[in-house]
Amino acid sequence: MPLSLIILAAGRGTRMASNLPKVLYEVAGAPLIGHAMMAGGALSPDRCVVVTGHGGDQVARRVHEQTPEARIAQQQEQLGTAHAVAQAGDALTGFSGDAIVLYGDTPFIRPETLHRMRERRSAGADIVVLGFDAADPGRYGRLIVEDERLVRIVEAKDATPDELRITLCNSGVVCADWQLLEALIARVGNDNANGEYYLTDIVGLAEGDGLRCAVEVCAEEETMGINSRAELARAEAAYQAGARARAMADGATLTAPETVFFAHDTRLGRDVTVEPHVVFGPGVTVSDDARVRAFSHLEGCHVGTGAVVGPYARLRPGTRIGAQARVGNFVETKNTELGAGAKINHLSYVGDARIGDDANIGAGTITCNYDGVFKHRTEVGAGAFIGTNTALVAPVDVGAGAMTAAGSVITGDVPDGALGIARAPQVNKPGLARRMRDKLLALKAKRAK
Ligand code: UD1
Ligand code: MG
Repeated sequence: MPLSLIILAAGRGTRMASNLPKVLYEVAGAPLIGHAMMAGGALSPDRCVVVTGHGGDQVARRVHEQTPEARIAQQQEQLGTAHAVAQAGDALTGFSGDAIVLYGDTPFIRPETLHRMRERRSAGADIVVLGFDAADPGRYGRLIVEDERLVRIVEAKDATPDELRITLCNSGVVCADWQLLEALIARVGNDNANGEYYLTDIVGLAEGDGLRCAVEVCAEEETMGINSRAELARAEAAYQAGARARAMADGATLTAPETVFFAHDTRLGRDVTVEPHVVFGPGVTVSDDARVRAFSHLEGCHVGTGAVVGPYARLRPGTRIGAQARVGNFVETKNTELGAGAKINHLSYVGDARIGDDANIGAGTITCNYDGVFKHRTEVGAGAFIGTNTALVAPVDVGAGAMTAAGSVITGDVPDGALGIARAPQVNKPGLARRMRDKLLALKAKRAK
């Protein structure tokens, strides 16, 4: 059965006190709407429509970075959730199959949960609503179930005191045949406490038509929506708690799990050790047996088998660390491939470079990769030895097995096996240090009189 996703993202997020559309706030390095799209995307939908309002262009840009084929529908005025879904109509012309409605500000719905909703559809329910048992039902819509049939959803503002005692609540996620959904939405009115077109009203309408609505239940954590920065921080904490537990269950050792921060797509191999206070930005993979030492920051990079990174290392996007390689303290790398067994142990910046296997980059080495306008590449061959405090002025090649003398400013290529020296030659002035010191001490004694 073909599937479309409709993601509602037209809310203003007024409690964020911000100009950024709420759905673009990030949890684990991905925008809230990105999480919703990933959850829905796991079902391989045929179409994905995002309904935007405030800050629509910005939202559209982020959506297209993740899913270029996603369609954007504008909701000019926020007249309610049913009205929002109706805006997806143009983007779904000619589509026949199921639609799942998700909220862009609700990042934790699991793909498995959406799968279960689809199974309920296959088992004969015309509309499947995702519900949860709320610890504090507050302002959530209440699911009215009679004889195992979902007969109605009532918004808290419109509910009777008896209905308010119900704890089975509406998450907002709905799965139904798109044509049915569109037809029901067209009949929804706005005669309610908010004067809004409620998507939830489709349940009562469907029941009246003799159709069957069902509730699929999920854990309350999955339905957590974000409306303020405090809730955003709580969502991040919830995500990280889960990510740490998963990393350990999958075979990584976290010395102090509560101090390690993962991105939504961090992948750790088996027997990886992550020491305290490590931050993973998006796009990091770490192979088996590698160790990420304390206070390191990694993003957009790969760490090879058995490699050791840190403490205090910063691996920036485009870094690939080879097997058994070493990156030590106060080393920054960017767009750099470090060969197997190679070492950059102390105080270096290596950018736009390829470092061959088993090469050794001395303390304080800097690739001068940027001339203010263009970026240039540095190549260091296998087994090369870059002396302490070498400036490699790119574009430049240092050959296999070559060396540079400490303190050199290398502006020209160094052939294989050669030693490049590029610094002023040393001159010793016999006795000059002693004479100068005597002179200065005499001056000091005279001034003290
Ligand atoms: C909605 C549900 C409620 C449910 C709750 C779960 C309705 C009528 N009520 O209430 O039953 O318990 O979610 O959190 O559906 N949106 C638009 N355009 C609009 C209005 C909303 O895109 O015109 C989007 C919002 O950005 C948000 C989502 O739809 O992502 C839900 O809207 P919101 O105003 O938060 O609805 P609730 O009152 O929370
Ligand atoms: Mg809400």
